[in-house]
Amino acid sequence: MPDQPSYPKKVYLNGNILDAGKALVSVFDRGFIFGDGIYEVMAQINGRFFYKEAHINRLKWCLEQIQINLDVDALEQEIPALLEASDLSGEDCLLYIQVSRGTAPRQHSFPKNIEPTVMMYAWAKTLPDINLAHATVVTMADFRWSRCDIKMTSLLGNVMANEHAQKNQCYETLFERNGLITEASHCNVFFVRDGTIYTHPLGPYILDGITRQVVLELCEKLQIELIQEGIPAKEISSMDEAFLTGTSTQVLAIQKIDDHHYFDTIPGPVTRKLQQAFLELKKLG
Ligand code: PDD
Repeated sequence: MPDQPSYPKKVYLNGNILDAGKALVSVFDRGFIFGDGIYEVMAQINGRFFYKEAHINRLKWCLEQIQINLDVDALEQEIPALLEASDLSGEDCLLYIQVSRGTAPRQHSFPKNIEPTVMMYAWAKTLPDINLAHATVVTMADFRWSRCDIKMTSLLGNVMANEHAQKNQCYETLFERNGLITEASHCNVFFVRDGTIYTHPLGPYILDGITRQVVLELCEKLQIELIQEGIPAKEISSMDEAFLTGTSTQVLAIQKIDDHHYFDTIPGPVTRKLQQAFLELKKLG
């Protein structure tokens, strides 16, 4: 089960670094009214943000997709001051960045020339060297929209799916669309069969996860065959291994999907190899 979260000390809001309790946004903010915004989460590990450029690029791409103009490079320059104010300079932590379209009287179409609402905060978090937890997961129909590639703040579908997992004493819910497993509520998912790794291809049904990108790179380096192909839900039980990836989840072995058990105590060899390679990559600094 996830850790109990707490509020951060400081929040960056529209150019100012404020005590968290003083960081206030209008009730007419379109992020609040429509969920009209996007977000990013990245981890500082051993004094540097892991795959920062990839996270920043995804942020830029998502902003473009929903037509919000923001100087992301200038925003990036504000991160050190936020970390400093939060007593997290050089410390292991997670950083949350959110950009909503801004404040305007409610109407669906985008008002032009409003200032986006830009918010960031960081909190101390040391990720384990290797995520040694064993995830149990359930599956459900993917009732989300068809732009899951946009990292948007309107996460109701993901929230409901994760709640479904919690109700079933599970860590995650895997989504099934057109008979195929796509991703999970806040992770990407991979399967292994006969030494080959499978994961759903990029496109509108999954987020282009940065940890997913890292695993793809590691597979190439380790010469593990990887096929970007969705696994049919009905073939879950014929797979040898399965694992989840995500910024705070890292590489997490799946022990059980619905009624199918993959292992009792030790995850499969391909998952363990990738977990080890992921750890080595983090150490490189
Ligand atoms: N979740 N798929 C979904 C739907 C996600 O929300 C996430 C990330 C991922 C993995 O992406 P990455 O490897 O870049 O973290 C896949 C974040 C961490 C969150 O919502 O907190």
